[in-house]
Amino acid sequence: MSNPMPLQEEDVAALRETLTGRPPQEILRKAFELFGDAAAISFSGAEDVALLAMCHEEGIPLPVFTLDTGRLHPETHELLEKVREKYGVRLEVFSPESAAVEQLVAQKGLFSFYKDGHEECCGIRKVAPLQRALASRRAWITGQRRDQSPDTRAQVPVVEFDRRFGTAERPLLKFNPLALWPSQRVWSFIRAAEAPFNALHTRGFISIGCAPCTRAVLPGEHERAGRWWWEEATQRECGLHK
Ligand code: ADX
Ligand code: SF4
Repeated sequence: MSNPMPLQEEDVAALRETLTGRPPQEILRKAFELFGDAAAISFSGAEDVALLAMCHEEGIPLPVFTLDTGRLHPETHELLEKVREKYGVRLEVFSPESAAVEQLVAQKGLFSFYKDGHEECCGIRKVAPLQRALASRRAWITGQRRDQSPDTRAQVPVVEFDRRFGTAERPLLKFNPLALWPSQRVWSFIRAAEAPFNALHTRGFISIGCAPCTRAVLPGEHERAGRWWWEEATQRECGLHK
């Protein structure tokens, strides 16, 4: 953590220019050099496994956290334990606040999102725990890619200020080291690295979130077609990346 932290807009713009098009490993190393333990990888799926495998290979000891919404598939839990074992990472698991979940379920039942949209449930089960996960951080690192969604992710930069979860007093950077990698490249990397992956990928699932809000996709369908499929494509973000 020797370098000064780039907290001004122009510093982040310069960092973005330097890092755009650079290998993800270099972006991960930069995040660690700048922020050390105050940066963390937000882990859920395929792209994030690639990030963990890269950190492992390169000796970049970034902390890792995951948001266990309480509605994940058992296969996702199995993956969490596999990566914990394979990469020896200390994986911090954040859960939703029980009182908020109980109130939602008491008022609206367990599948309210099919009737009135996913925002309320995601707010309780994902966004609020993420706020807690990021409270002590200066930077977070995600597996977002541009080609994941032409509707919502086409402009994802390799690094930016996160204005949703950061504030003027507590600025937060968001690194997306895989922003420019297409899906095929991520999967070639995973295969070459013999990295573990979610068993649901062998059953037609591509983008995987919570069990009731994720389905397998058909040949030719876009990968995020299986997420919140009953909603308009431009609304298919849960609030982590809006
Ligand atoms: S989501 O917002 O639609 O659910 P997506 O599944 O595409 O996101 O994942 C994009 C990135 O968001 C992941 O690479 C990961 O960094 C982060 N992310 C998504 N879900 C979680 C989760 N449950 N726990 C931790 N990070 C997550
Ligand atoms: Fe709730 Fe579905 Fe959002 Fe998971 S993805 S938090 S189950 S609405």
